[in-house]
Amino acid sequence: MEHQFGGGLLVLVEGDITLIAADAIGNAANAALAGGGGVDGAIHRVGGPAIMAELRARHPYGTPAGTAVETGAGQLPARWVIHAVGPVWQGGDHGESVQLAGAYLSVLSIAAELGARTLTLPAISAGAYGYPLDDAARIAVGTVAESLRAGAPLERVTFVLYSPRTLAVFERALS
Ligand code: APR
Repeated sequence: MEHQFGGGLLVLVEGDITLIAADAIGNAANAALAGGGGVDGAIHRVGGPAIMAELRARHPYGTPAGTAVETGAGQLPARWVIHAVGPVWQGGDHGESVQLAGAYLSVLSIAAELGARTLTLPAISAGAYGYPLDDAARIAVGTVAESLRAGAPLERVTFVLYSPRTLAVFERALS
């Protein structure tokens, strides 16, 4: 499923984000930028050790929830990885929605600064961090759609969703 917002196309696909070529790949990292499981584990595994080496050298203290930092992409089919930190779900009264939108906005703004034209994104916080999927999808799709409509200079932003269920929930949010 896809929809044009302003000058940018928002696309939803099912798949493994490490296999899809883009100028920049979004990651769902932790605040320590220490690596982990899920999509973060896959990105470091496929990208190789250069990504962690760059994170340790440039961001030894990590980056807080709601922000993002970029590195090279190692062996991944991209130029950059943009490591975003989503919130851990704590019931919804701890600023989670603002932090989740902030994580996506940080990725979009860094992608624009870098001059990326195409960007892939995972469903940040919707795995180990436990964000309810319906809400996570609504915030993800809404934040990207609004940014594209407001003129974010990206040609295509693709959410790469790891399961049929996640894709279906994102499709509902987009429609
Ligand atoms: N491609 C695309 N999506 C993936 C992939 C992949 N290869 N692997 C997992 N996912 C999906 C998950 O199914 C989920 O929908 O990414 C979404 C986000 O889940 P997590 O990776 O668990 O990310 P998050 O919920 O933000 O938790 C972040 O998990 O691994 C750690 O280091 C990471 O501590 C951080 C935490």
